[in-house]
Amino acid sequence: MNNITAVILAAGLGTRMKSDIPKVLHPIGSDTILGKVVAALNKAGSAEITIVIGHRAELVEEMFKTKARFVKQPQLLGSGDALARALGSFEQDKGTILVTCGDTPLITADTYRKLVEKHVKDKASCTVLTCMMDEPFSYGRIVRGAKDEVLKIVEEKDASAEEKAVREINVGTYCFEAADVRKYIREIKMNEKKKEFYLTDIVDIFNANGRTVLAQTCDWTESVGINSRKDLAMANKLANRKKIDELMDSGVTVIDPDSTYIDSGAEIGKDTVIFPCTYIEADVKVGSGCKIGPFARLRPGTRVHDKAEIGNFVELCRTEVGEGTKVKHHTYLGDAVVGKKANIGAGTITANYDGVKKSRTVIEDEAFIGVGAVIIAPVRIGKGAVIGAGSVVTKNKDVRPGETVVGVPAKPFKGKK
Ligand code: UD1
Ligand code: CA
Repeated sequence: MNNITAVILAAGLGTRMKSDIPKVLHPIGSDTILGKVVAALNKAGSAEITIVIGHRAELVEEMFKTKARFVKQPQLLGSGDALARALGSFEQDKGTILVTCGDTPLITADTYRKLVEKHVKDKASCTVLTCMMDEPFSYGRIVRGAKDEVLKIVEEKDASAEEKAVREINVGTYCFEAADVRKYIREIKMNEKKKEFYLTDIVDIFNANGRTVLAQTCDWTESVGINSRKDLAMANKLANRKKIDELMDSGVTVIDPDSTYIDSGAEIGKDTVIFPCTYIEADVKVGSGCKIGPFARLRPGTRVHDKAEIGNFVELCRTEVGEGTKVKHHTYLGDAVVGKKANIGAGTITANYDGVKKSRTVIEDEAFIGVGAVIIAPVRIGKGAVIGAGSVVTKNKDVRPGETVVGVPAKPFKGKK
């Protein structure tokens, strides 16, 4: 779908979120709702993205200024008005325009691509993305004709009992032929109940003018539109489950997917076991044959090499853990590089932040850190060195390879081991 112009409607107030932040800037995984939409469109191959903004426009513009162009919708007069504003801001009057909502973050690049392909192949004036929902409440319902074409889209507020029973819903994503949508968008009349111009009314208008409106379906898990905090929680859960399913398919064991969070940007090697209540964020790479959790938190910038074990109540941040190293209980390592086959005792803490700057800790291969050690960065602990239980290794007091240090502050151990 190269060279397709895309429009994202994102000016809405998001009233049901009850938030000071624009709805589309709320987080989903380590991204934002709108960030996910933009990323999927980019991946699908959109040539140019126009975002219609309104509520707290400056915040959205600031965050996406390198990725899109913007059109302001001065009054929130509905999705029909929003698209009309976007069309008024560029010239294109031929070819296809892909329109999507800024609040449906789970639609994949593949789905966008298939929608455009079908639209172009079947030479429709409009192709609507739809799906089957068990609980279609609040979505626009799809009314199909005898040949499976789309006759109209009816919003919840205007639907009859019969229409409300329809389970096929409008995802809020459409392909339009530029010439047709330009010609007919001004014919949309204001909906009297909501005092808005519904973009969905254009389907009826197209049909009345002999234009073809078709549908392309996708899986319901992609189509969740985020209107409330509950929808946001559901979308986060669906995104997480999808990632975990992908990992399990690639050979990772996840003991309890329901209590495990793994960001879509994380990478995990095969035969690694993720125990319950583990939280793995973006930009984390875990090798093969590792054990992670239960109750572990791996934060961005963390690398865990093959066969390492990260146990309960361990937090790693911007930290590298070498092959076969064990960090098994109650530990915080930040800005640290730990070599191979080291043992990090229970309760070890790296003091990486002095209130002004963050510093690095290096722990070389086969080092043994006793329980309850505090390691004040910057410092290097040499290969095979031993830190006594409860010791405080002070900054810049590097421990030589093979050396044993003990005490507060830690000093070379003179007695028998
Ligand atoms: C819309 C569709 C509905 C579909 C659902 C899918 C309409 C009339 N209805 O309903 O058929 O099932 O999405 O999630 O379109 N927006 C603007 N300017 C406005 C109003 C809205 O840019 O003046 C944007 C919003 O930011 C949002 C999108 O348009 O991204 C849809 O608006 P929203 O109010 O969320 O519509 P829904 O009620 O969810
Ligand atoms: Ca919505």
